[in-house]
Amino acid sequence: MTTHTIRHGQACGKIILIGEHAVVYGAPAIAIPFQSVGATVHVRPSDDQSRLHCDFYTGSITDMPETLLGLKVAIEETLASLNQSDACLTLTIDSTIPIERGMGSSASIAIAMIRALYTYYQQELPQETLLALVNASEKVVHGNPSGIDAAIIATEHALVFQKAQPSQSLTVSLDAYLIVADSGITGRTKEAVTTVKAFQEEHPVQHAELLSQLETLVLSVQQELQDGDSTIVGQAFTHAHTCLQELGVSHPTIDMLVQTAIDHSALGAKLTGGGLGGCMIALAHDSQTAQTIANALLQNGAKQTFIQSLKK
Ligand code: PMV
Repeated sequence: MTTHTIRHGQACGKIILIGEHAVVYGAPAIAIPFQSVGATVHVRPSDDQSRLHCDFYTGSITDMPETLLGLKVAIEETLASLNQSDACLTLTIDSTIPIERGMGSSASIAIAMIRALYTYYQQELPQETLLALVNASEKVVHGNPSGIDAAIIATEHALVFQKAQPSQSLTVSLDAYLIVADSGITGRTKEAVTTVKAFQEEHPVQHAELLSQLETLVLSVQQELQDGDSTIVGQAFTHAHTCLQELGVSHPTIDMLVQTAIDHSALGAKLTGGGLGGCMIALAHDSQTAQTIANALLQNGAKQTFIQSLKK
């Protein structure tokens, strides 16, 4: 390798279709890779010390702020795994993934970073090593992550994910369109996970009942996503949203956007990811309705919308 080498690593975003929060308690959840957004990390040699350039910080790796501790862990543990802890590198992050909106930005940036560093040192990156490194970083970011973000983004496959179980790859082939809208409000995954834990302690029976409903909905969506009935999937989305509302992790703006989508003929809608802000998703039968829903969401304050066909 020459000292002028520049290498990069990339990763996509992710959308949880159904099962967020319940997945923390061992229930299955379904998520898909989301290629409309992504992160790229460029690595090049630096003369004196290792530096990071990104939208939210420019400076030495050593002085990275506490808020970027998860990323710092990803960088340091990856370099250690490569026996390059003393490396002097300039790391530049370009990301189109809105931060803390439930699109997997922390896992995606960590994965792009790990891939970029392994590529730079021309080392093979086994999937288990990638997952171990990103999960170590995600633990710092989220406290007690289920691992769903890391699994989806690392494999770039739709998965039925269940903690401590091998993930099942899922072929999504539904005659429907997914609309994703960013509320513009920062989601707070760690706080949301704590909220659900507190709900469990205060209302154990209701918590178990809601988790059981979410699990049933996930299994129904899993079945229908493979050439099934988009109406059932839509209804499951809306039902899951009411469960998440009861668990205390929605937000008035997300509720308003969910209602807006339904008022504009969505088959169903829900929050996605940790909640307390972040993004919502809606399902539409055809592309014209999807566009109408996206326009209505933008008119009602959504900052950005994306439309993705769920056909294979
Ligand atoms: O907010 P996100 O995209 O990181 O999703 C969090 C999903 C949860 O189920 C709420 C937490 C987890 O670790 O699975």
